Amino acid sequence: MLSIRNLSIDYQLPGAALSVLQNVSLDFPGGQVTALIGESGSGKTTLTGAILGLLASNARVRAGRLLWKDENLLEQTPERLRQFRWRQASVVFQAAQGAWNPSLTIGQQMLDTCADHGFPAHQPRREMLLQQVRLTPERVIAAYPHQLSGGMRQRALIAMSLMLEPELLILDEPTTALDLITQSYIFDILAEIHQSGLTMILVTHDLAAVARLADRVAVLYAGTVVEVGPAGEIFENPRHPYTQVLIRSAPDVHGGEVARGAEGLPPDLRQRPPGCIFASRCSQVIERCRAEVPPLKEGVACWHW
Ligand SMILES: Nc1ncnc2c1ncn2[C@@H]1O[C@H](COP(=O)(O)OP(=O)(O)O)[C@@H](O)[C@H]1O
Ligand code: SF4
Ligand SMILES: [Mg+2]
Repeated sequence: MLSIRNLSIDYQLPGAALSVLQNVSLDFPGGQVTALIGESGSGKTTLTGAILGLLASNARVRAGRLLWKDENLLEQTPERLRQFRWRQASVVFQAAQGAWNPSLTIGQQMLDTCADHGFPAHQPRREMLLQQVRLTPERVIAAYPHQLSGGMRQRALIAMSLMLEPELLILDEPTTALDLITQSYIFDILAEIHQSGLTMILVTHDLAAVARLADRVAVLYAGTVVEVGPAGEIFENPRHPYTQVLIRSAPDVHGGEVARGAEGLPPDLRQRPPGCIFASRCSQVIERCRAEVPPLKEGVACWHW
């Protein structure tokens, strides 16, 4: 449904450019949940921003194509992208970010979203969607955002994002800033929504949720895809040394010790090292790694494979 081909993006900084995505190629098959995982700063939000045409003003697309069906989104007009953002794709950001207008009721904002995009203001659909996210429609429709808890607002936002019947739902850390019980409740709801066959891109640090929800997993490290494949395989048999560390360092949901992540820091994106991007932290590094970039082949970018 969506294919990213050799996408490279920089952020311009005074006197330097930050190479934040480097030669990213990824497919997002229709009807599947693809999770993007990787530590903070690995480029997940930049990638979702590129898909939605919502990059910061200092971002420069250096190369690549972003194919929605057969249309290269990187060549579209701002008007077409605005339409794409709501009619074909829809996005839910972190709960802490103010997506709601504080002076209008939730119900009104849901209908306004439809009107703004030339879609009939469909009240039965609004109620059905609120029920789907397990909110009581009568109560929530009349409520102002501050009258709901953070978790309820985020559930209402998921309902709103589905008002225009998008084909793709992008969730960028949708449960960050919510308490644990609310997080798991929201993932239950997303699992139910997924049953309807909606294509999703899920960015989250919650690997338990990824294991539960995702069909496919793509692992990003310093702006490159180091491993991609079916979720079950990635969790059972992570091949890339970074994926191995990431999965081992996931907090144990049963309250056990948190294993330590990779030693050291990610590379300086103003000056990418010549070989494998993970070489400075990799416990399995060999000489070739420092000289040549390993290609992503059969789902893994590592000379050992
Ligand atoms: N507008 C910007 N200008 C400069 N650097 C940015 C900008 N936005 C993000 N970055 C940097 O780009 C890198 C990737 O950021 P981001 O895509 O937000 O990663 P993630 O979502 O995985 O945490 C980080 O180093 C971040 O600091
Ligand atoms: S290519 Fe080399 S440095 Fe990179 S992950 Fe594989 S073993 Fe480690
Ligand atoms: Mg992010």
